[in-house]
Amino acid sequence: MENVIMLDLKVAEKRRLAEGIWLFDLVHPEGNDLPPFTAGGHIPVRTPSGAMRHYSLSNNPSERHRYQIAVKHEPNSRGGSRSMVEETAVGDLLSVDEPGNDFPLGDAPDYLLIAGGIGITPILAMARQLTDQGKSFHLVYCSRSADQAGFLDVLNSDAVNGKITIHHDDGDPDAVYDFWDLLETPSKTHVYCCGPKPLMEEILGMTGHWPESAIHFEDFSPVERTRAEDKAFSVTLAKSGQRVEVAADQTILEALREAGFKTVSSCESGTCGTCKTGLLEGQADHRDMVLMDEEKSGQIMICVSRSTDGDLVLDL
Ligand code: FES
Repeated sequence: MENVIMLDLKVAEKRRLAEGIWLFDLVHPEGNDLPPFTAGGHIPVRTPSGAMRHYSLSNNPSERHRYQIAVKHEPNSRGGSRSMVEETAVGDLLSVDEPGNDFPLGDAPDYLLIAGGIGITPILAMARQLTDQGKSFHLVYCSRSADQAGFLDVLNSDAVNGKITIHHDDGDPDAVYDFWDLLETPSKTHVYCCGPKPLMEEILGMTGHWPESAIHFEDFSPVERTRAEDKAFSVTLAKSGQRVEVAADQTILEALREAGFKTVSSCESGTCGTCKTGLLEGQADHRDMVLMDEEKSGQIMICVSRSTDGDLVLDL
């Protein structure tokens, strides 16, 4: 497997931000500056469960002393974010990869920022940066209730100086915010939207008549690493001869971790190449975006790929 360079950062603050949402401030243990990030960016974090998760950064990109992330507590999930909330304490060290950005803030004369639920995290970094730059923006933040909305104190402070609309629908489908007034007439405004799928689909549906380049989305939906029709199989680790069972709803990576093996990964969605592993025997069902055709008989991305039929022997 390939190695990735990671930083060990200290949890300087952990607090409940809203119902089911926890805020973490991560700093360098010696107080050094952190690698810079840009508004809309994220950091990959190795959670205590061993799984990597990407979290959007909510603090002002001008800050170099900390990364601030918000984590949704999902008690029924298998690992990542649940272990962040349940197994991490102030003072702990977490391995963090350098920041990336799939949702960068471009140059525009005006901005409409739309956030739903925990989607406020990258949108808040954008609002903070636009405030610093003295640029004009309107932020609409939708949540079910005030208790489920994070950062209300920040949104009502000088840290963000734009037009702010906060809307709670109390779970009533008839009370959802109506964006049509804001989107009916295309303008030079750029729209940035992050939130649950129904919100993003609504904005997508209302902006079909806008220039495509003016509408930007950040999709938080988790990558589907297994499929309903997947079957269980086993992998044999050639160096020790040990056999590990991979359940139908589990990836090879997850099964190896559960069996106590330390494995390196980053994206866990078959796109980065970090978990590349030698395949010595067996037919792999390759689901990654990384391997060239000529590599597929001898390599496998264990974060997403599995067996087409029968067992696999891995060069581990
Ligand atoms: S961890 Fe990125 S491809 Fe597997």
